[in-house]
Amino acid sequence: MGAGQYLPPLFSVAPMMDWTDNHYRTLARLISKHSWLYTEMLAAETIVYQQGNLDRFLAYSPQQHPIVLQIGGSNLDNLAKATELATAYGYDEINFNCGCPSPRVAGHGCFGVRLMLDPKFVGEAMSVIAANTNVPVSVKCRIGVDDHDSYNELCDFIYKVSSLSPTEHFIIHSRKALLNGISPAENRRIPPIKYEYYFALLRDFPNLKFTINGGINCIDEVNLALKEGAHGVMVGRAAYNNPWSVLGHVDSEIYGAPRSGLTRRQVLEQYQIYGDGILGTYGNNRPNVRDVIKPLLGFFYSEPGNGLWKRKADAAFQHCTTIKSFFKETLVAIPDTVLDSPITEAPAGRQDLFANTKGLLPPPYERREQEVAYA
Ligand SMILES: Cc1cc2nc3c(=O)[nH]c(=O)nc-3n(C[C@H](O)[C@H](O)[C@H](O)COP(=O)(O)O)c2cc1C
Repeated sequence: MGAGQYLPPLFSVAPMMDWTDNHYRTLARLISKHSWLYTEMLAAETIVYQQGNLDRFLAYSPQQHPIVLQIGGSNLDNLAKATELATAYGYDEINFNCGCPSPRVAGHGCFGVRLMLDPKFVGEAMSVIAANTNVPVSVKCRIGVDDHDSYNELCDFIYKVSSLSPTEHFIIHSRKALLNGISPAENRRIPPIKYEYYFALLRDFPNLKFTINGGINCIDEVNLALKEGAHGVMVGRAAYNNPWSVLGHVDSEIYGAPRSGLTRRQVLEQYQIYGDGILGTYGNNRPNVRDVIKPLLGFFYSEPGNGLWKRKADAAFQHCTTIKSFFKETLVAIPDTVLDSPITEAPAGRQDLFANTKGLLPPPYERREQEVAYA
């Protein structure tokens, strides 16, 4: 694909370990037909060493398209093999994780966000990934690591990776990662968001595509980012914690589709069929009712009856063996008006989210010109 032809998704749901599993993605797709869905990160080694068991890790229902597999790793052979094996499953894009600060990931050699310190390797990894698939490839990264957090260092990373490989799309989680001492959750809260780095990348790399990520909480803010020039917007926690409100507006407000008129009850009816069909299919009572219900725990976010529903859910987890019986026992807590109303107007977001960005833009990246001049 030639430079500039590739268009990233306007709206995507972020990869989230233990969250964006098959159950969540099934729910998300019932609510929004157009959102791009990212898998949880899957280590290349898991794919390579579980070759007899690949469906467990890589299979998904066709309804989940468009879907992106995120892989992680630091061994070129394994990345190559994993990409080849995964490509058979028909993912729409392969994304490489260069943003995860978890000690489980970043602490073991060069993996996750530590890879930002080795752009040459990431370039090689992306070449190997691209060579083993026929779909677009992308990188998800932070804006820096520890004290390697200048705009110029971020640009060096983007420049080297895109020069050494066919990577045209970068997803920018617009805060740096701190590798020592704080948890992954704190690493998504404590380092400040710097959207100005993201917008400066749009200015300095006009031939590449960038998706903005981090701290975008509702559809109004997604639209605001697109109006500011973002090529694509990725939402993580808000899409998980409040799926009805966030995903329920994507098709109409971002993709211009007519409003579906879908209600929560209709979604739950379809999800029940999925859930009861999948219970126990991995063996050993997995998935169980709790696993399948987990993505629904934010489904009634801030609605009347939500607290009571969650208390009933806690009790129902103890004895319900089907999703049908779980719903029968718990949904009495939710008023019919909540269950049977189509999605309402999208809530207003923070209009000042990007207000200071223009004034804070770092000076343009100049390394390339210097390299050319001294070559
Ligand atoms: C529970 C959880 C798990 C995550 N797992 C991954 C992951 O596997 N790969 C990844 O690139 N980012 C992961 N992230 C980071 C998100 O993809 C996203 O970059 C981050 O949450 C910021 O976006 P948000 O503010 O919209 O949530 C995870 C985030 C959460 C909350």
